[in-house]
Amino acid sequence: MREEQVTNGIQVLSEEEQKHWHLIEASIWGTNSRRASDHFSSPVSDTLLDQPRWIQPHFLYDEKGSRLFEQICLLPEYYLTRTEDEILSQEAEQIISLSPAQCIVELGAGFSKKTTHLLREQLRQREEAAFAPVDVSLSSLIGSRDALQRQLPDLSFHGLCARYEEGIRSIEKTTPTLFAFLGSSLGNFDDSDLKRFFPLLSDAMGSDDFLLLGVDRIKEVEVLERAYDDSQGLTAQFILNVFEHVNRVAGGNFDLEKMSYASSYNSELRQMEMSAVSTCDQEIRLTKEDVTFLWRKGEGILVEISRKFDPDQLLQQLRFYGLESVAHFSDPREWFSLLLLSKG
Ligand code: AVI
Repeated sequence: MREEQVTNGIQVLSEEEQKHWHLIEASIWGTNSRRASDHFSSPVSDTLLDQPRWIQPHFLYDEKGSRLFEQICLLPEYYLTRTEDEILSQEAEQIISLSPAQCIVELGAGFSKKTTHLLREQLRQREEAAFAPVDVSLSSLIGSRDALQRQLPDLSFHGLCARYEEGIRSIEKTTPTLFAFLGSSLGNFDDSDLKRFFPLLSDAMGSDDFLLLGVDRIKEVEVLERAYDDSQGLTAQFILNVFEHVNRVAGGNFDLEKMSYASSYNSELRQMEMSAVSTCDQEIRLTKEDVTFLWRKGEGILVEISRKFDPDQLLQQLRFYGLESVAHFSDPREWFSLLLLSKG
């Protein structure tokens, strides 16, 4: 059933073919689910053997993780999605008229619900509109494609199942493009991710291209801590689910009954930190990677960070990568910012 859903009317490209991905070609799909998981088979143990231990956050987004994240976005405590959606719904007309692009490439698109405001406006203002979402989750891309085919049948859809970096590298651009990196996904990058990501993106952008960056802003700690430790426990499930994924990928024996979820705001680094803490001394074995280690009671494994930004400082930082501010949109509480940038 899933396989049929994936291939029905969808071109499945080999990795070699992905390198020659043209944005305006018909029916472009990056890969199938088997190949998608191959992408993420780099050793998990590399980071689990670091001190402090951590996990690459892209492991969060297996099918269950993507579903949980969708549910998180609807939580009353998780203001990010709602706030960004409000800004997008109010400012889509302005954003699209300021960025005359024929194609929107969304990095880490998920189900692309918020992006619909931009796509609808793009169809209204331009004759041609193409949407090229890139995401590690094939199920999200399928959901996005199916919903958009119903809502905006005139839109041409070209999804790519890949990580951001692979997506950016795979683009052979033929048309002015608006890159969208929404939902404060930038917040999940550490410094080294950031230093890899922006030069790559900036190099891929031409003088006709724009970037729309959605970032969560620094605010009261209580608001932040509630958003990442919700009363329904969905965030805890989302974070701990990463260990199920790691078990599958690396032949691990992580036991969700022997760990608990912990999150807190690091005010020095201006980031939420989400971890799993071992509730007993336990031996962790990753059979596919031939690795064993002792995970001590009380020791944490950092699963995700979520940085919070001062938009003015960020804009200053982005200038180093040749990205200049075109417009800045925010909500009345100034909790979230949408920055429209161009290659200066
Ligand atoms: C995807 N990303 C922007 C979310 C965030 O807020 O950092 C991921 C998330 N983690 C826990 N809740 C939401």
